[in-house]
Amino acid sequence: MSVTDKAEYESGYDFVVVANRLAVNRVTNEDGTTGWQRSPGGLVTALAPIMATSEGAWVGWHGAPDETLEPFDHEGMHLHPVPLSDEELENYYEGFSNGTLWPLYHDVIARPLFHRHWWDAYRKVNQRFAEAAAKVAARGATVWVQDYQLQLVPQMLRDLREDVKIGFFNHIPFPPPGLFAQLPWRHSVMKGLLGADLIGFQRESDARNFQRAVRYRLGHYIKADQVYVPLDSETAAPLEGFTADPARGTAPRQLSSPESGTFRLSEAKAFPISIDTDRIVELSNDPKIIARAAQIRAELGNPETIFLGVDRLDYTKGIRHRLKAYEELLQEGKLEVGKHTMVQIASPSREGVESYQVLRDEIELTVGRINGEYDTMGHTAVRYLHHSYPVEEMVALYLAADVMLVTALRDGMNLVAKEYVAARKSGTGVLVLSEFTGAADQLRQALLINPHDIDELKAAMVQATALDPEDEKKRMRSLRRQVVSHNVKRWAEDFLARLDQL
Ligand code: F6P
Repeated sequence: MSVTDKAEYESGYDFVVVANRLAVNRVTNEDGTTGWQRSPGGLVTALAPIMATSEGAWVGWHGAPDETLEPFDHEGMHLHPVPLSDEELENYYEGFSNGTLWPLYHDVIARPLFHRHWWDAYRKVNQRFAEAAAKVAARGATVWVQDYQLQLVPQMLRDLREDVKIGFFNHIPFPPPGLFAQLPWRHSVMKGLLGADLIGFQRESDARNFQRAVRYRLGHYIKADQVYVPLDSETAAPLEGFTADPARGTAPRQLSSPESGTFRLSEAKAFPISIDTDRIVELSNDPKIIARAAQIRAELGNPETIFLGVDRLDYTKGIRHRLKAYEELLQEGKLEVGKHTMVQIASPSREGVESYQVLRDEIELTVGRINGEYDTMGHTAVRYLHHSYPVEEMVALYLAADVMLVTALRDGMNLVAKEYVAARKSGTGVLVLSEFTGAADQLRQALLINPHDIDELKAAMVQATALDPEDEKKRMRSLRRQVVSHNVKRWAEDFLARLDQL
């Protein structure tokens, strides 16, 4: 019996989000009891209202290993925790998701590791998420799967529930086909994704990379972003190990064409994500936050220029490149402690993964060296904070900073760049932005840089300290127009409207 025959699905949810993490974080109250708090991220903010109005459920891991929880409700959301054992956390999350896929999808800035037991765990955990979604989705429901940790879920879910509509959104880059080809399980990943009716990417180039990989490796016919996925065994996608490899001079076999066989269509297209712009603007107008921004400036000794970096402590973010450029500018006397300072917020991330531990040591050594060399009794060169902060404090920092430094070596989007822009209602402030972020496709009036080019980065930092005020305002006005008119609510609506049409 197919699961769709079961009467129980009549009473499921019409809209289901499936993400690695649940939409809430566990918090400890003052009296020592624990509770749940809605996650502050843009995705939850965008989807929470849709969940409340359309009887939605969220399927995800609740953040603690070796713990099984019953479904529960929180602020109008129905939450369905998926358990992960300690070993699965190590192999599926830290291992395959963040030791294989993350570096591979970010241009192999760090070396991806290919371990078969990590892949086995990834497959097993993806199956669990698919089964959890299949269990809670109503007949004909819309299921929206999120991100690289769950790329096999769309097809696994389709195998269980052919009645549901499936969307997938990849929050990180999709690598060029030549890099993706390194993945020993590349066919399975593509086939997993192609189980979705709509596959969303951050940038046009990500969607194109995916389409090219599908065309070369699986031989599927693609027209106008629509992938023709063969349904019959004659033309079905080849198994792992198929050798139509253009790199070896073998022409890819064109296995499918719209004239032969039967197909499902799967659309692969860009939907650049954004932020909850209204919330950031509202906070930036709050007198308490404005006062806090002034206090931050005063505590830093009211310098002429505050450079700000806000990142998860991740090797993709280009924090080392930023520090190198800044150190050289201090060395050369082009910047001067007292007049200039840098605030670097580095929020703790994936601390169980070795490459993140190594990065932390390197960054902290560098910050220590710069401060040791250039600090004065009264002023610091780099104020480094290895913490996460609530959004109110982040907005105060955005208001306090004259120059925002986003120097990622590769980034799916970079929402910090958009938040900075949203907060700068005054029209002042300069955004130095890496061209390797998804945000650079939209924020064209930022000072765009190649972070690998340290001289260019240094020049942009100096330029930012002395930008003509008219030019500064003109740029910020144009950046704000983009961010204000494309908030995360619109992103979610556009994606879901397209999914509905398909
Ligand atoms: O950018 C991808 C992403 O998974 C985000 O969705 C998330 O906020 C961030 O990376 C950190 O992810 P995690 O702490 O779950 O590994």
